[in-house]
Amino acid sequence: MCIAADFEDCADCHQGSYDQWSSSAHGIADCGICHTSADGDFEDHIDEPSASVPAADLSSEVCADCHGAIFAEWNEFEGADFDMEAMASHSEPTEVAEPFALHSGTSCVVCKSTDGGILNLEEADVYMLNEEAAHDIEVTEWTISCVACHDPHAGGLWLEDSTQLCGNCHNTEGVVADGTVDVVRHAQWEMVSTSIYVDGGHPEIGCVDCHMAMVPSDDGMTTGHNFDFDAVALSDPDSSNGCYMCHQDELVSLIEEKQEPVSQRISDLNTLKDEADVALESVNGTDVYESQLANFNNGLFYLTEVENDGSLGIHNMVRAESDLDMAEEYFNLVIEGDSDAAEPSDQIPAIGVPVVVMILAAVAILIKRD
Ligand code: HEC
Ligand code: HEC
Ligand code: HEC
Ligand code: HEC
Ligand code: HEC
Ligand code: HEC
Ligand code: HEC
Repeated sequence: MCIAADFEDCADCHQGSYDQWSSSAHGIADCGICHTSADGDFEDHIDEPSASVPAADLSSEVCADCHGAIFAEWNEFEGADFDMEAMASHSEPTEVAEPFALHSGTSCVVCKSTDGGILNLEEADVYMLNEEAAHDIEVTEWTISCVACHDPHAGGLWLEDSTQLCGNCHNTEGVVADGTVDVVRHAQWEMVSTSIYVDGGHPEIGCVDCHMAMVPSDDGMTTGHNFDFDAVALSDPDSSNGCYMCHQDELVSLIEEKQEPVSQRISDLNTLKDEADVALESVNGTDVYESQLANFNNGLFYLTEVENDGSLGIHNMVRAESDLDMAEEYFNLVIEGDSDAAEPSDQIPAIGVPVVVMILAAVAILIKRD
């Protein structure tokens, strides 16, 4: 065990970490709770820093000792009713949930591990993944643990703007419909940052307002650290998220009403997609194949953008509907087999939409920067 004076010594060389730590609520948690040295005390490190570099424990368990209730909310994965097939959670380790992602380059690692998440969030701009640093990552924590979002020394968040905090991982990495991309993953940031929730069409709300329902419970406060969208909790008059003020008891039904038609359209478009797939195969080997393949991929692009966003339109109803219109148009081009329609000139209006979307995204980034 180290005596407290040892940790005063750390300030000699780590003034920044020390000051942040000692002036925060965490001044009571000594360095040794989260940092371990090779030999049990830090003497060797202090004598010759590089000979024995202390490690940081990135697990949520470290925080659980003092934040038990929040840990329990976060830890859905260990819950009795967690269904790995149907559910996702920040507490679900990537090496268990998506082992294939581990070998698909650094761009996955920066969002699918806490080691990468910290590096990623040091660069505040969405898409500015810190890939260079990520190449050296030796991952020690495959869940999205507390310190993926929280600065452990200061106690706060790496990024105060929660939509940017969440959006730094929950984005598409800027893919565009250029005829080659056939799947869009986790488009939440693209959807929300161009939605009525940020452009003034609705009182401004961010990811956290909807995904962290804060409700007082008998044994303290539920802070929403499972990150599920919980319309029932949000409808609670005592919830500090404020939805009740305007939506009263209507939120649950409003969400269902909005999601239902989107869900139906996604299902219809999957049928149309299968038809387009057959039509595409029938022109395999002919000279229209390449342009029809591009149309098919664009259809998949717009369909999966909505499908994999996971909110069934709620993140951005206008964009979800226009995306699904685009998917329908592209699949129909393939089915109609109209080789004229596949001429570049006919694609100009279609290509215009991603450009507009890119401009909107760029404007959104600029607005955020201000
Ligand atoms: C004499 C100066 C000095 C003192 C005193 C010192 N450190 Fe360090 N510390 C360093 C240097 C230099 C490094 C970088 C070593 C390297 O990467 O080769 C380092 C690295 C670290 C790291 C790893 C940082 C990283 O980027 O992974 C941690 C954690 C750490 N120190 C914690 C402590 C703690 C806790 C104490 C007090 C018990 C302490 N240090 C005292 C100089 C010092
Ligand atoms: C509540 C847990 C916790 C406590 C307490 C804590 N640290 Fe850390 N520290 C971490 C984690 C997690 C990281 C890795 C995240 C990062 O890179 O900032 C880290 C990173 C560091 C680093 C390297 C990155 C940097 O910010 O420069 C140093 C040095 C460091 N800690 C020193 C200390 C010292 C000295 C103390 C005590 C005065 C201390 N820490 C207390 C959790 C903690
Ligand atoms: C030794 C006990 C202890 C440990 C371990 C600990 N904390 Fe804390 N933490 C506290 C106390 C005490 C407070 C202040 C009271 C509160 O907000 O609950 C606090 C506050 C916080 C806050 C709120 C800060 C604010 O400005 O409101 C965050 C966020 C936080 N801790 C995150 C973490 C994370 C992440 C870890 C693990 C890396 C961790 N804590 C580990 C004791 C601890
Ligand atoms: C460091 C990257 C990272 C950050 C930051 C991040 N997430 Fe996630 N999130 C993930 C990963 C990875 C998954 C998928 C986990 C799995 O496959 O089980 C996920 C899954 C989710 C899910 C679906 C599973 C669930 O728990 O309901 C929601 C909702 C979610 N995140 C919301 C958020 C919100 C809200 C924020 C901001 C407060 C946020 N995320 C910040 C990486 C991140
Ligand atoms: C995906 C990001 C993310 C993860 C992972 C995460 N938090 Fe948080 N946490 C937040 C955000 C965002 C807030 C602020 C919510 C708000 O201001 O409405 C917060 C708030 C807090 C607070 C202050 C709550 C209060 O009532 O004042 C504490 C303490 C805290 N988190 C601890 C933890 C601990 C412990 C863990 C791990 C078990 C954890 N967090 C995991 C994003 C995260
Ligand atoms: C207006 C409220 C609202 C906002 C703002 C919002 N979400 Fe959502 N989100 C939802 C709803 C509703 C769902 C669908 C949940 C369901 O049907 O179970 C959802 C679904 C998701 C999912 C898929 C969950 C799963 O289990 O597949 C993720 C991930 C997610 N949101 C992340 C985010 C992120 C990141 C942000 C900010 C960039 C954000 N959300 C902003 C309401 C919101
Ligand atoms: C100041 C009043 C106000 C607050 C607070 C508020 N809303 Fe709304 N919301 C509205 C109005 C007005 C509409 C549009 C009328 C309608 O569709 O019911 C709306 C519409 C919506 C829609 C439908 C969006 C669409 O694209 O059609 C959702 C989803 C929603 N709100 C969720 C929420 C959630 C979740 C919260 C709390 C985090 C919230 N609102 C807080 C006033 C508010």
